[in-house]
Amino acid sequence: MSFDSQFDALLEEAVLRLDADRRTGVRFLSTDLNSLRKEVTTCERCELCDTRNKTVFGEGSPNAHLLLIGEAPGFQEDKQGQPFVGPAGELLTKMIQAIELTREGVFIANVLKCRPPGNQDPLPHQIESCRPFLQEQIRLIRPRVICTLGAFAARTVIGTDQSLSRLRGRIHLVEKTPLIATFHPAYLLRRPEDKFKAWEDLKTVKRELEKQPGVAGFGRPSP
Ligand code: URA
Repeated sequence: MSFDSQFDALLEEAVLRLDADRRTGVRFLSTDLNSLRKEVTTCERCELCDTRNKTVFGEGSPNAHLLLIGEAPGFQEDKQGQPFVGPAGELLTKMIQAIELTREGVFIANVLKCRPPGNQDPLPHQIESCRPFLQEQIRLIRPRVICTLGAFAARTVIGTDQSLSRLRGRIHLVEKTPLIATFHPAYLLRRPEDKFKAWEDLKTVKRELEKQPGVAGFGRPSP
């Protein structure tokens, strides 16, 4: 590599870093989801890196119109490196299908990318360490609608400490993107009598998607 091209590459890297710093306060080099995924894989921003087996970046379409956000990986997710596997994941798949979408056509992420040992509630400093990754996911995917699953995700993404019952039933705006808060599928497995309320939320998600110009199906076609 010539001195000139080496210099250009370094300059480009510095500009990318500065840009990412401005947005998130964290140094990222990611310009696409795959490079962000690599950064998550090697993350040591909090102590959860010592106890995790696998990071759980999230999965789905990089062009998804709908981004679903859960809390944190559990035992199975930590083993497999995928979000929402197991019974709660099966229910989430059914919830997605109920609004005529597919798991592959949406994107599923979590607030935390590593499992808190013993499935403890995420701690404030863990959420803050991980927040830039979620912000970058939102920036790169550019979903038309966000749906949070459970109180933790709703509070973290909306930036409030209100209860889920207060946050449900309205449309929030996160950087101009409509956000609907619903129950966590694990909660719905324990309290199936609340599934009808979740169905109301899902219908709102569908309606919001349908309102978006150019949304007809399971995700933006790849450019
Ligand atoms: N619960 C979550 O919030 N996320 C997962 O990925 C699995 C269970």
